[in-house]
Amino acid sequence: IVVVMAPPIRRIALSTGGGDAPGLNAVIRAATLAAINRGWEVVGIRDGFNGLFLPELYPDGGLISLTRERVRGIVHQGGTTIGTTNRGNPTAYPVQQPDGSWIEIDRTPEMLALFAQHGIDALITIGGDGSLTIGHHLSEAGLRVIGVPKTIDNDLEATQSTFGFDSAVACATDALDRLHTTAASHNRVMVLEVMGRYAGWIAAHAGIAGGGDILLIPEIPYTYEAICKKIAEREAMGRLFTLVVVAEGAHPKGGAFVTHGEQAKDREARLGGVGEQVAEEIAKRTGKETRTVVLGHRQRGGGPTCADRLLCTRFGAAAVKLIQEEKYGRMVALRGNDTISVPIPEAIGRLRTVPPN
Ligand code: F6P
Repeated sequence: IVVVMAPPIRRIALSTGGGDAPGLNAVIRAATLAAINRGWEVVGIRDGFNGLFLPELYPDGGLISLTRERVRGIVHQGGTTIGTTNRGNPTAYPVQQPDGSWIEIDRTPEMLALFAQHGIDALITIGGDGSLTIGHHLSEAGLRVIGVPKTIDNDLEATQSTFGFDSAVACATDALDRLHTTAASHNRVMVLEVMGRYAGWIAAHAGIAGGGDILLIPEIPYTYEAICKKIAEREAMGRLFTLVVVAEGAHPKGGAFVTHGEQAKDREARLGGVGEQVAEEIAKRTGKETRTVVLGHRQRGGGPTCADRLLCTRFGAAAVKLIQEEKYGRMVALRGNDTISVPIPEAIGRLRTVPPN
């Protein structure tokens, strides 16, 4: 009998993929320190996986050495110090053919060879559904992979919360607080468009915390009759202003998403504009003065809230512990007050939406 032992961990890589979210740096810091404390070396792959497999884009190196000094003082910083991208999935890489058409190729074998060439023994992929799906693919192919759930939309299965969500809700709630006073002063209808492509968690949480009167989320298609009825009820009670919170992915009954510009080959359609549509229709139907604010990427920018800093620190440290325990192919997750782990497939392929009840 020949027992083949997996080589010990000496060097791990971190990758941040997809749209950024407040708290990425806090995860990078926690994972780096936890790994260094175990005597391991840490590298960050620049811009998702691009730094590893598209070296031509990085003449000064696609890998960043993450040392204690490098992660010092970043727990409160927004963005990601190693960069991110939501293009160029290495497992379905778009390649243009001579006739102009596009095909997707799986560059997994090349990726595995590159991880080996750079002496990377394990990978922590920090991302949403897309990055975790890539991570799962690499894990199936034999790489030692751990996932950390990120997205401001909070729409990942198998974890009670993703990091970045609390910060996005804080930003949207602050916007609502500000809109509240100006709406009340002018007796206007104020429409706030927030992010939330398929799930209305940000709209629901910020809407409740910020005293929104009408919350429109993708999970519950709206009708203008219901919206205007609510405004009329408020007017009858002497409440002459109304705050409407609309998720970018909300749509009317039988209607579709409102998209922005042309859809790129390897990207989902950009959403945006539903807030203005809703405001215009309300003005037309009620005669009330309306204004729209699109919060956009402010929700993703800036530093994380205290709650996100703590969650990220727990997640980063837990991811490293999973590597030490050789529990690969798993994602760290929050359940109650506990940091647990689940197999990555439990988190991907379907989204956690707001239960309509
Ligand atoms: O998934 C997070 C998210 O912020 C969505 O809410 C939004 O639709 C999308 O990313 C925007 O992506 P981009 O920054 O590429 O426009």
